[in-house]
Amino acid sequence: MILKDILNIYHKELDDLFGNEEVNSFFNILIEHYLDLKRIHLVLEPEYAITKEEEQPLFEALAHLKSQKPIQYILGETEFYGLPFKVNQHTLIPRPETEELVDWIINSHSERSEESQLEESQLKILDIGTGTGCIAISLAKHLKKTKVSALDVSEDALKIAKQNAKLNEVDVEFIKDNILNSRHAEGVSTSHYYDVIVSNPPYVRNLEKAEIQPNVLENEPHLALFVEDENPLQFYKAICEFAQLNLKDNGTLFFEINEYLGKEMIQLMKEFKFKDIELKKDMFGKDRMIFGRK
Ligand SMILES: C[S@@+](CC[C@H](N)C(=O)[O-])C[C@H]1O[C@@H](n2cnc3c(N)ncnc32)[C@H](O)[C@@H]1O
Repeated sequence: MILKDILNIYHKELDDLFGNEEVNSFFNILIEHYLDLKRIHLVLEPEYAITKEEEQPLFEALAHLKSQKPIQYILGETEFYGLPFKVNQHTLIPRPETEELVDWIINSHSERSEESQLEESQLKILDIGTGTGCIAISLAKHLKKTKVSALDVSEDALKIAKQNAKLNEVDVEFIKDNILNSRHAEGVSTSHYYDVIVSNPPYVRNLEKAEIQPNVLENEPHLALFVEDENPLQFYKAICEFAQLNLKDNGTLFFEINEYLGKEMIQLMKEFKFKDIELKKDMFGKDRMIFGRK
């Protein structure tokens, strides 16, 4: 079949759902992934034809897109902070806001890491709720002289995170644990061990479900997303408690947060006596990240 004709079928079937531009972009990503063809191919060779075998994954992907499955899950991969990551239904698809959090951590520690390189000391980092491992692995890749650990309660997510560490050729220690069960979490490390603790924990309240796109609600793991309306900061409290025990003095704590709970987060971190608290907006102008020093 002629490739351009398949693109026309994509537009016919999907434009109402996603709009013309997004459909073009999906198609370009898919032909590159499955056929190793660049977008320019469609322009230079409008009559380019592919075999039945080559057509098959494109039509399967079309059916998945029609049912609102995110393209990252269709391909089983995505990109985060310039690095490749495998994803599946057990892992949240990493978001651009989280890249901003990683960037903040890297910028605020790159100077220190140069100093510590001279001092021969290692920066110890823990990522809580690691999912694909995107935060932990990006930090391990970009910050010199670090020992990065990453924790998640989901065995299935940890399987993917381990594959991602291999894929990106970094050494990360993975820990299966429940951060809400402090008895276990205390066992994760020795006291006052970490220089940096970072987390993007579940933070979407059930009352915000109406704002969530159906493709997210139906495909992404609810374990990674939702918290009870009555206790929306449950993970942040548990992690602050954990940090009191396991973060070094002057160590740093970074969170991604619910855009509606910035003030409450400042209050919480004050209650836990964190210093130099800083709330930061994401590229959409929403309160999205917070920092504190022990
Ligand atoms: C919002 S996702 C973040 C994933 C990844 N760090 C990212 O930024 O894309 C939250 C993660 O926390 C994990 N999680 C949920 N409950 C947990 C718990 N009680 N203890 C540890 N991890 C938990 C989920 O499995 C999920 O991977």
